[in-house]
Amino acid sequence: MARTDRIGFPSMMESSGKSSAQKPRIALGADHAGFQAKESLKKYLESAGYDVSDEGAWSEESVDYPDFAIKVARRVQQGHNDLGILVCGTGIGMAMAANKVGGVRAAVAHDALTARMSREHNDANVLALGARVLDEHQIIDVAVSFLTAQFAGGRHQRRIDKISELDQEPKHRE
Ligand code: RB5
Repeated sequence: MARTDRIGFPSMMESSGKSSAQKPRIALGADHAGFQAKESLKKYLESAGYDVSDEGAWSEESVDYPDFAIKVARRVQQGHNDLGILVCGTGIGMAMAANKVGGVRAAVAHDALTARMSREHNDANVLALGARVLDEHQIIDVAVSFLTAQFAGGRHQRRIDKISELDQEPKHRE
C-alpha cells in the first residue's frame, strides 16, 4: 500500500520507479501566492525525470488565479499534458476554475492520503494545492502521492462516468 501519513521530502527512489517515458507529463500553474512553491515543485519534478510544462505565473506580482487554472486545465483537456498541478494560496480557487473546463476533474488535497485517493477513486487529473496551507516540502510530498497513484477503475469508473455526463449538458438552462 502506498504511504499515506509521512510528511517530508520524498526520496528520489520513491518517485523514480518509472522511466521518464512512462511518467505522466505534467502542466504546472500558480498565482503569486503559489509562485515560490511552484518553482520548488518544478525543480523537484524535473530532477525526478518528469516532463514539466510551466504555464506561469512567473513572479510574485499579483495575478488572477483563474488565468493559470484555465491554461493548465485546457492543456490537460487537449491532451498536451496527462496531469496538471496548480498552486494558489489554498488550492480552492484554482480547483473551482479548473473544474469548469470539460473533462477536467480537479481535486484540492492538503495531505498525501487525499491526493492519492483523488487519483485512485476519483481519477482526478488536476491537483490543486495551497501554499498558505502547506510548506514547500509538504507540497512536494502531496504532489508525489498524486503523481504515483493510479486510477483503480471498476466501480469507480461508473461513478466518474456520471460526473463526465455533466460535460454534455447545455451550459445554460431555462
Ligand atoms: C490570492 O490572495 C488568493 O485568493 C489565491 O491565491 C487563492 O487562495 C484563491 O483560492
